[in-house]
Amino acid sequence: MRVSESIEMSGHAERLIRGRRATRAFRPEPVPEETVRAVFSLAGAAPSNSNAQPWRVEVASGAMRDRLAKALREAHAHDRTSVDFPYSEDMYTQVHQARRAAFGAELYGALGIGLDDHPARAAYDAESLRFYGAPHVAFLFVTGDGGARLAADVGAYMQTLLLAMEGYGVASCPQGLLSFYADAVRGELGVAHGKLLVGVSFGYADESAPVNRIATGRAALEATTTFHG
Ligand SMILES: Cc1cc2nc3c(=O)[nH]c(=O)nc-3n(C[C@H](O)[C@H](O)[C@H](O)COP(=O)(O)O)c2cc1C
Repeated sequence: MRVSESIEMSGHAERLIRGRRATRAFRPEPVPEETVRAVFSLAGAAPSNSNAQPWRVEVASGAMRDRLAKALREAHAHDRTSVDFPYSEDMYTQVHQARRAAFGAELYGALGIGLDDHPARAAYDAESLRFYGAPHVAFLFVTGDGGARLAADVGAYMQTLLLAMEGYGVASCPQGLLSFYADAVRGELGVAHGKLLVGVSFGYADESAPVNRIATGRAALEATTTFHG
């Protein structure tokens, strides 16, 4: 690769990776089917341990998307949570918690919700089960024994998918919350196998929504990365 090509490629990489952000308000119009297919085809180029590709991906649009939103909200209203990957606040260190708090302040600030207004925060979470208004949602299942190594492969798939979407001008939001109702999702999709890791809502961003303009920072390089040599 020539130097000029390499500089151009690094510019593309910067724009693609830093340009992607979690979108929490979507316009209703659907993404054309050929674009959806192109994006998921590209996401399949994700790396995985021994190329096992242990993901199972269910993409819902139209009537199925609407049925899933209804099933999720019903499961939520009746407190029927079911998780395939256990969740606990204890999994976070103090440093993680500080980063989460900074993010929460940004998000709820943009929404005009006070940090201690727990009912309003819960209502917003419940509303997010409608995929933030996105016309499509993808559910990523981990097949095989669903252990940590295979889940990591599906995590790599997820990020490849998000970047593929960004490259095609499609906005997205990975939503761990959707995985808290795994049985409801499975029941609606008629899926028998696999552990539900995450849902990804996608479509075109509503650029006018303040929630889509929040800035999420990142830890300094030295805080996460050591270079040995
Ligand atoms: C595995 C995973 C689960 C997430 N779950 C949710 C969620 O349930 N709801 C939500 O609004 N955002 C969710 N997010 C988005 C994160 O909040 C977001 O990626 C993070 O704050 C960094 O912001 P950015 O993606 O805009 O750079 C999730 C992201 C990941 C990777």
